[in-house]
Amino acid sequence: MSLAGKKIILGVTASIAAYKSVLLLRLLIKQGAEVKVIVTPATEKFVGELTFASLSGNPVFSGLWSHEWSAHVEMGLWGDLMVVAPASANTIAKFANGICDNALTAVYLAAKCPVMIAPAMDRDMILHPATQKNTETLREYGNIVLPTGTGYLASGLQGQGRMPEPEEILEAIEDFFSPKLLAGKKVMITAGPTQEAIDPVRYLSNHSSGKMGIALAQEAKRMGAEVVLLLGPTSVPTPPGIKVVRIASAKDMLIAAQTHADAQDIMIYSAAVADYTPTIVSETKIKKKTEEFTIELTKTADVLGTIGKTKKPNQVLVGFALETDHEEENARKKLASKNLDFVVLNSLRDKGAGFAHDTNKITILDKNGNTIAFELKSKQEVARDILNKVIEFL
Ligand code: CTP
Repeated sequence: MSLAGKKIILGVTASIAAYKSVLLLRLLIKQGAEVKVIVTPATEKFVGELTFASLSGNPVFSGLWSHEWSAHVEMGLWGDLMVVAPASANTIAKFANGICDNALTAVYLAAKCPVMIAPAMDRDMILHPATQKNTETLREYGNIVLPTGTGYLASGLQGQGRMPEPEEILEAIEDFFSPKLLAGKKVMITAGPTQEAIDPVRYLSNHSSGKMGIALAQEAKRMGAEVVLLLGPTSVPTPPGIKVVRIASAKDMLIAAQTHADAQDIMIYSAAVADYTPTIVSETKIKKKTEEFTIELTKTADVLGTIGKTKKPNQVLVGFALETDHEEENARKKLASKNLDFVVLNSLRDKGAGFAHDTNKITILDKNGNTIAFELKSKQEVARDILNKVIEFL
């Protein structure tokens, strides 16, 4: 989602993870947020103020005495969200105890907005009861404390204490700003291609990347839904906070959909499921012998069509239609035959629409006879348009 118009206070403490805050700042600016950075006195030893000032386009707030005496209060009132990343053990302890001895701790106390903390420290420091107690106190204050990552630490130790990656912090920030319009709702999304085995080394598949369905899953999660994503083979990464069920074939997809369908409030079928599968799968690798070779195919089950037959009146069911000709006519047929609330039409004739792109151009046709055509947008924005239409039907 875009963070345009959002005002974010980014607190950076003295930790080796401060270099990752530069990347976080960059991501926030790219998403359109306005960011003001506050550093503690020793942060300068890791990353210079000029770096933060240049990337944010704002002066860095570093010393309590180098500005107007009330600068911390103004800053505390300015932000929509305060993010402290990395938050060292020392700063966490100060926050927990109301100690106010530098610009960052002063703004923390003065801030009216919610606060998000991304701790970063060495394994034994984070496991110490004092730090555990202090982070618990911050949670009690209503602060959002992000979990630390596990892995290689700058000290050479392995374990807990890594600052969450900038992309993970950005995801938490975008989650925070998303209106929770789907809170309490269960959403199932099918995405990606399927693979139909011919023999142990070959299969039939298609060009679907799963990007559209993954974007839908991410946006639904940000809107507060509990999301299960039935995902065909793809190397596109899936965002955190989503239950991902990996499937390979159309048959697997049908079984997974039937397992989950009953419990869902909303189902969106964006997967490019194979319509035909080899009738016989060879157990051994097929050798090349004859000049011509024919594979006999059998029709697969229509996953969406099958689920559409048992759709409950309070469930919202959405399908996709990828067409190359007679687009609207074909999409309307699918809307009716699969018992959908609405169908999302992509035409492969539109530039930037369909497989593998990061953009898509859709037309939504609903069961009440409405047709809405959208502009070419990022798949993330398209996902929001689709979910807003779902909300109309809830
Ligand atoms: N779909 C499905 N299972 C299938 C085929 C399609 O669940 N075996 C779903 C897709 O996920 C999509 C919708 O049905 O939401 C339409 O898919 P599409 O491939 O456009 O249409 P088909 O029904 O397969 O018809 P055709 O290939 O003849 O256009």
